[in-house]
Amino acid sequence: MPGSPATGRPFSGPPMAWAFALASAKAPADKTGHRNAEQEEKSKAARNRLRMRPILPSGMPVRFLIAISLALAASQASTLGQQPAPTPDIHFTPTRHAIADAMLQLAGVTAQDVVYDLGSGDGRIPIIAAQKYGARGVGIEIDPRLVTQSWGNANDAQVANRVRFLVGDLFTADLGEATVVTMYLSPSIMKRLTPTLRALKPGTRIVSHQFTMPGWPPDDRRQVDEAEILLWRVPK
Ligand SMILES: C[S@@+](CC[C@H](N)C(=O)[O-])C[C@H]1O[C@@H](n2cnc3c(N)ncnc32)[C@H](O)[C@@H]1O
Repeated sequence: MPGSPATGRPFSGPPMAWAFALASAKAPADKTGHRNAEQEEKSKAARNRLRMRPILPSGMPVRFLIAISLALAASQASTLGQQPAPTPDIHFTPTRHAIADAMLQLAGVTAQDVVYDLGSGDGRIPIIAAQKYGARGVGIEIDPRLVTQSWGNANDAQVANRVRFLVGDLFTADLGEATVVTMYLSPSIMKRLTPTLRALKPGTRIVSHQFTMPGWPPDDRRQVDEAEILLWRVPK
């Protein structure tokens, strides 16, 4: 680390501040305690040389130092710009394919439907809706990594042109175009979602894997292996 020209102590400023430190040393006084004109001239010339000379850690090129400074600034800016990832209200546990298919059958999904899965995980329910029933599928998922995985799965299933996966919060998502809404969530999330689901357009079918809606009895329910699936129709 370079020393400060004024004090000789290590210079602790940021990297760019090292680059052009100003000399503050004065010419020494003569024996009488006064500086003569010649000494003053030499001292001035020395100060000017220091003013122009980059003071760097030994052997470190200026361009390298500037690159470090820019990289530090960029990383700081991107850290400041980042929002913390939202916390999922429930973690990812997939619905088995047989149960997912039974949910779509219980809703009577056809090629005319737009199927929204709330908390869509790896995208399997919208993908089956598109692949097997020719519907359009939309997944709303809070975890961006699962959304990326869903697009990969849709490509593999060759239905990427019939599905959409959105990083978003199921509590605030716009469900206006849905004709079928599916979900595998939790009792507390179902309770919070009930008013939103009741307000969907009349005739919308809602299917839940396992969890009921308090105060709204289902129109139909089926047992599929270990799971119960439930259906509601939004009244006309
Ligand atoms: C039990 S998994 C169900 C996954 C998929 N629907 C299925 O049945 O296979 C619940 C999913 O909801 C997602 N999730 C949790 N809270 C959410 C929120 N507020 N908005 C959107 N997705 C959420 C989780 O990341 C997880 O993928």
